[in-house]
Amino acid sequence: PKERWFGSSYLYKYNGFWLSTKLLPGLIACQNNFQAQDTDVLLVSTPKSGTTWLKALTFTLANRKIYPINQNHPLLKQNPHSLMPFMEFFFSPEKMNPDLSCPLGRPYSSHCPLALLPESVLKSGCKIVYLCRNIKDTFVSYWHFSKKLGAEASLEEFFDMFCEGVSLSGPVWDHVLSYWRESLEKPEKVLFLKYEALQEKPSFHLKLLAEFMGCPISPEEETCGFVDEVLGLCSFDNLSNLEVNKSGTSWTVRNETFFRKGNVGDWKNYLTSEMEERIDHITAQKFFGSGLSL
Ligand code: A3P
Repeated sequence: PKERWFGSSYLYKYNGFWLSTKLLPGLIACQNNFQAQDTDVLLVSTPKSGTTWLKALTFTLANRKIYPINQNHPLLKQNPHSLMPFMEFFFSPEKMNPDLSCPLGRPYSSHCPLALLPESVLKSGCKIVYLCRNIKDTFVSYWHFSKKLGAEASLEEFFDMFCEGVSLSGPVWDHVLSYWRESLEKPEKVLFLKYEALQEKPSFHLKLLAEFMGCPISPEEETCGFVDEVLGLCSFDNLSNLEVNKSGTSWTVRNETFFRKGNVGDWKNYLTSEMEERIDHITAQKFFGSGLSL
């Protein structure tokens, strides 16, 4: 079938990828009309890989001249998804960067597979920051998220669908692999990040991100503790405890839905050894020879 119910919306198979019927019209509009600029930065991620975190970090870095880190910082009052919308949700040039005159062009975001990106993103100087995560943790996070959105399928049913590639923007392996290959071919165009690496070495990756985006962290900023300030502001503990993220809503999704545990390896609490084996087997097959491990 080309259409599968996944709990809160239908997924529709489009050019080999399962896209939400809520996102598809916006994505097609972007493909037809969106003109990327050389100064744009596009965040792309697999759903549930830490997009919310990366949005917070990118927003803070890109806008630090306009919004210094203090008690008036927008992240204390708005969810990262409101500050950096998904282009397929909010296609319209004015809405892509609401109320922001960002010195670095428009940082915007997407879960779009590489093959379906608007041509101008690939042809212009627009940079892509890509984030992915261990596939088993991605699945577990996706399962919880979907339950919160009202999905009724059991963990086992969801798992079967996921392994068949039926998940938001799935098959997740194909999504990751295409950006991985692009990042090897064009490292100046695509920065490939892993959630686990961000967790392990946050300062290193924040500096890498800033450099890639064209707004490197200066020695003066480092001396003044800027790196720790950004990481503290964007940390799971800080963001998940803010009133806006406990109560507000982004589109139709409650903000608290984007924050669960923020741990690496939580899959061990949910998957049986058979499930572990099955997903590892698919991952090994799909990534064979690519040099990529997750
Ligand atoms: P878990 O469900 O494993 O806790 P996305 O933002 O792509 O929807 O991904 C959501 C996952 O990122 C969730 O993982 C969520 O808890 C975690 N997350 C959200 N904000 C985070 C942050 N500031 N730091 C680390 N992880 C975060």
